[in-house]
Amino acid sequence: MGDLHVMRDDLRPPDPPARRHLISITDLTREDVERLLGTARSFERSLEREMKKLPTLRGRLVVNVFYESSTRTSSSFELAAKRLSADTMSIKASGSAVDKGESLKDTAITLGAYDPDVIVLRHPHIGAPQLVARVTEARIVNAGDGKHQHPTQALLDLYTIQESFGRIEGLHVAIVGDILHSRVARSNIQALALLGARVTLVGPPPLLPRGIEAMGCETTTDIEAIGAADVVYILRMQQERMQEGANYVPSLREYTARWGVTPERLRPGQKVMHPGPMNRGVEIDPRVADAGDALIETQVRAGLVVRMAVLYDLLTTGPAAVKAELPVKVA
Ligand code: NCD
Repeated sequence: MGDLHVMRDDLRPPDPPARRHLISITDLTREDVERLLGTARSFERSLEREMKKLPTLRGRLVVNVFYESSTRTSSSFELAAKRLSADTMSIKASGSAVDKGESLKDTAITLGAYDPDVIVLRHPHIGAPQLVARVTEARIVNAGDGKHQHPTQALLDLYTIQESFGRIEGLHVAIVGDILHSRVARSNIQALALLGARVTLVGPPPLLPRGIEAMGCETTTDIEAIGAADVVYILRMQQERMQEGANYVPSLREYTARWGVTPERLRPGQKVMHPGPMNRGVEIDPRVADAGDALIETQVRAGLVVRMAVLYDLLTTGPAAVKAELPVKVA
């Protein structure tokens, strides 16, 4: 009898892997990040072949839902899913039932009826990805929630730095500009700290959130500080997220004069990054944007392979798939 019990246990199918999401960089361990970057690298090699499509996610459905404008992020998620042979649908808030007043919850339930494997969501409100995770069975990838998180942007930035320097550990990255409204800054500070890089935030005092040092970075208002960094990471003034009537800087002209990144403020050999969209002549001098040391186009290319890696990782039983469901956190 005892033996039979053992046999029955053996024959029981393994528990399905827990549903995982990528909502915040804090969902990931260093090991997870390293695995994702390694997967992205192998996808990059596979894209060098003439036949660019892999059969890996055939029959899977990836739905992109974007409640804010986007060029890079939405196009790269769509292409990433297509390169892995998944079916894709892209919904933009404008022109959808959202215009008719449908709530995020009802939109998510509607899309959930198609049984998507992954929902990629960009939304102006912090916590929107957790809401969609609660009302659907899909894995959720946060493509930006308000000023909170944009984890795939940070991963593609890590990938770009790793490919350019051969390492991340020990490098010094200066992030310059509107930190206060930037989910890219928050995700990057955590991701860079996780991999052992040093981060200095540079910007006007009202745009450097108080207490942000607790995330593992230094702050300064002195633009000269960028001279000490290996990478200068430039952010846009995100006016659409600024409170009406709030005067963060006297004027954009003043901002450019004091914090704009110009060739004169850089050292030869320093690498420059920007998540896009760029406002040339405001936060970045056009000569900096077009110089050989700018990695801005490399970042866009990295976005494709890194997003392929994220979709693949969430949908296959990789080493992390046996991990318990990741806790949901809102900062
Ligand atoms: C960023 C974003 O949306 O947060 N852009 C992007 O994803 N490429 C940064 C920005 O909008 O300035």
